[in-house]
Amino acid sequence: MNELKVAERACVEAGKIALKYFRGKFNVRLKGAVDLVTDADIDCEKKIKSVIASEFPNHGFIGEEEGAFGSKESFWVIDPIDGTTNFAHGVDYFAHSIALVKNSEIVCGAVFNPVLKKLYSAQAGKGAFLNGKKISVSKAPMLRDSLLITGFPYNIPAYDEKTLRAVGSLKKQCQGVRRFGAASLDFCSVAEGICDGYFEYDLRPWDVAAGILIARESGGKVTDINGAEATINSGNFLVSNGLLHEKILEHLEAP
Ligand code: IPD
Ligand code: CA
Ligand code: CA
Repeated sequence: MNELKVAERACVEAGKIALKYFRGKFNVRLKGAVDLVTDADIDCEKKIKSVIASEFPNHGFIGEEEGAFGSKESFWVIDPIDGTTNFAHGVDYFAHSIALVKNSEIVCGAVFNPVLKKLYSAQAGKGAFLNGKKISVSKAPMLRDSLLITGFPYNIPAYDEKTLRAVGSLKKQCQGVRRFGAASLDFCSVAEGICDGYFEYDLRPWDVAAGILIARESGGKVTDINGAEATINSGNFLVSNGLLHEKILEHLEAP
């Protein structure tokens, strides 16, 4: 089966598991001061890997909950539930995020919100899609036309003040700054053109791998917060419709 189809199928299977748990009873553990993991995160990661491994037994994995193993040339980057804090509280903004990296290039990616039934996907060079329909970034030319997104990393001492200063400065210039709580969907909201820019410090490869490709394939620009072309390991990210990129960067402090 085609690699993207497998990513999409794995997302849909994970979605079934997440919805069985969602707003029900499950265990929640702390991985850090405010960093949660639930039974659903663990079960989703296992399911995603089993769907992928049955088609591509020689590929490796980097998963948020179970770490990295196998091939470093061709590996899948998996966030089993992105937006776990939302999920644990019963907020319906979370997603499964899956991307395939081959020889350091992201070749395909899928992000699925199973509650809203929104499946975003992209293959390198072939455009980005939401539920099979092509998507593209907005055409907002000025900050005053824009709706922006940010996120607050778990490393509060290192990044909260920087994020809050940027929000304080940007919200005077744009129509609003949102904090939705799932990085993968934040990338996709810019890709879909319903938001115009998104920045966040201290993200991990599984938060961003699928989102980077989906945003670029929809015509968006993805850099780090210094303005350099982003990779899955950049750590801090600015995603925009391109037109607003430099204007947003002016408000962001180097990490
Ligand atoms: C988190 C979410 C959140 C972002 C954090 C991420 P998780 O991922 O994407 O929006 O602000 O930085 O770590 O822990 O829910 O998979
Ligand atoms: Ca995540
Ligand atoms: Ca996660």
